[in-house]
Parts: sequence; C-alpha cells; structure tokens
Amino acid sequence: MSRISFIGIGRIGQTIAYAVLTSGFADEVVLYDRDAEKTDKFKQELLHALATLEVKTKIITTSSLGAVDNSDVVVISAGIPRKPGDDRRDLFKRNASLMKEFAESLPKTNPNAKYVMVSNPVDMMASVFMKFSGKFIISSGTQVETMRMRSFIAEKLGIPVTKVDGFVAGEHGDAAAFLWDTVTIDGIEFDKMANDKLSRTEVEKYVKEVAAQIIAVIGSTTWGPATVIKDIVKAIITNENRVMSVAVPVKYDDETIHIGIPTVIGNEIGPSIEHSLSEEDVAKLENAKKEVYAAYKQLLDDFLASTK
Ligand SMILES: NC(=O)c1ccc[n+]([C@@H]2O[C@H](COP(=O)([O-])OP(=O)(O)OC[C@H]3O[C@@H](n4cnc5c(N)ncnc54)[C@H](O)[C@@H]3O)[C@@H](O)[C@H]2O)c1
Repeated sequence: MSRISFIGIGRIGQTIAYAVLTSGFADEVVLYDRDAEKTDKFKQELLHALATLEVKTKIITTSSLGAVDNSDVVVISAGIPRKPGDDRRDLFKRNASLMKEFAESLPKTNPNAKYVMVSNPVDMMASVFMKFSGKFIISSGTQVETMRMRSFIAEKLGIPVTKVDGFVAGEHGDAAAFLWDTVTIDGIEFDKMANDKLSRTEVEKYVKEVAAQIIAVIGSTTWGPATVIKDIVKAIITNENRVMSVAVPVKYDDETIHIGIPTVIGNEIGPSIEHSLSEEDVAKLENAKKEVYAAYKQLLDDFLASTK
C-alpha cells in the first residue's frame, strides 16, 4: 500500500500529482490545499483521466492539514511562486513561515513519511522544514538542472537523450555546480564528443537561464520539474535505488544546509556519491556549499528575528 500526499495544489502541485497518478504506482493520493474548491475540481479532472487510463488509485481531498496522515511520501509545493524578474531566494521569507507551520504539524500525523520539498527557494525551504521539524527531508534540488543539461546537450548534438549522462549539483539556482567530470556521451567524456559543436559555457548558460525565460513567457515552470519530481517519488515508492541529484542535508558550520549531490534514491535515501567525484568536481561542490550557507544564514537570521 502506498499513500502519497501533496501539500499545495497549485500549478506545480497539480502537475506532479497528475504525473504520479497517471504513472499508476500509487494506491492512494491525498491532495491538500487551503483552497478546498480548487482541490475538489482538480480531483474531478483527475478522476476523468484515471477512468480513461483504467487506473484505480484512490484520491482524497482535504483543506485540513491535520487530515493529511499516514503518508509514505509527502510532497510540499505550497506557497508563493516566482514572478518574472524574481530570484528564487526572494521568496524566502514568505515561504519560510509556511514551511515552519508545516514542519510543526505534518510530522505529528505522518511520522514515517519521506518528505520531498518543491517550494522555492527549494533547498533552503528543505533546511527550514528540517530545522523546525527535526525530520529528514530532501528537495528536488539540482535533478531539475541535471535533466535540463542532458536535454540541451542531446538537442544541440542531435543525439538521443538516453546517450547523455552526468549531473549538475549544488544549489537549485545561482550556485549550481556542473560536475563536468561526470558528463559523458555514449560513455565518452563530453569535451571529446562535443568538440567545437557545443561548449561547456553554452550548456551552463542555458541551464542557468532557461527557467527565467520560461517564466517570462509561460508564467511558470511546471512540466519539466513536475516530471522530475514524479520520478523522485517513484524511485522512493518502488525502491528503484536510482542515482538522482536531489538536495540532501549536509552539516555546514553551525547549520544544516541542503545541497544537490548525486544520491541513491530508493526506500532508503543515500548514500550520496560525493566520495567518487573528481577533485575538481568536489571543489565546485564545496564552493556551492559555502555560497548557499552564507546566503541561507543571512536569510534565516532575518527570518528568525522577524518571528520573535
Ligand atoms: N523545485 C522546483 O523545481 C520548482 C518548480 C516550479 C515551482 N516551484 C515552486 O513551487 C511553489 C509553488 O509554485 P506554483 O507555480 O504551483 O504556485 P501556485 O501559486 O500555482 O500554487 C501555490 C499553491 O499553494 C497554495 N497555498 C498557499 N498557501 C497555502 C497554505 N498556507 N496552505 C495550503 N496551501 C497553500 C495555494 O492555494 C496554491 O494552490 C513556488 O514556491 C515555486 O517557486 C519549484
């Protein structure tokens, strides 16, 4: 029996829930949002889709946080999204209050759940949730960047995406760290295969800028991240033990921060494979940790001062 709960049924929450439900691996799905009418109408849509697909997953809707219980996985995607021109870190204060509220409530009724953060700034929101709940949580982290990188390389070189491997780590955002020594095409290192057709700089620029470009035109990023997050949930529920660049908690100085690191995802989360990275890639990851810690510490201190 698998029970997956979604906290926040906005654009990204709906798309993840749709991807999970239509993949057919969940027995029960709980949809929670403060907007009860929205979850109810979304449920009707989903039921119509599931009738067509002949998927029998049970869908429960609620606008009471306490009714979200006994979940195997809880996916948190409530809160404010970026507007055109916003940086993800601009959302910290408002979304942090919400994460504190969820952290103080959800673990009471979902003591055995695996928690997956989606709300932005996603790695920092995972750290806030963990700080106030004491519960282990991952964020979707740089698995989203990883897939953006692989898709761009495949598209530019005109090869199937299944031939491209490798990871982006660090922060989902400004401090993304490209682990170039892990990037291969058909098992051969990127630089040899890309030759003069595609540079590392072009790939990094695309991955760092594409989300803002999508938000400016479409209003939000949904389909790409939602499919990635469905895969993270699926890897947990079906015990795939697949390596994904999710953000995991890391002790840094006096705080626990979340950083994207290629990590084995199954019923158990970990280990991370930091130890098998090249020296150069480890150095990039260390820089990302330093940068994320500095930004997080400042934003967290301001937030804690405002809640006194
Ligand atoms: N990690 C990623 O890759 C990624 C990708 C896309 C969006 N996001 C983030 O996900 C979050 C949601 O984005 P969106 O586009 O779905 O926004 P949205 O505005 O469409 O949806 C947000 C939802 O949260 C709900 N909500 C707000 N406060 C609530 C509360 N107190 N209790 C219950 N529900 C509440 C709203 O009713 C709404 O349904 C944003 O922070 C966004 O930046 C992350």
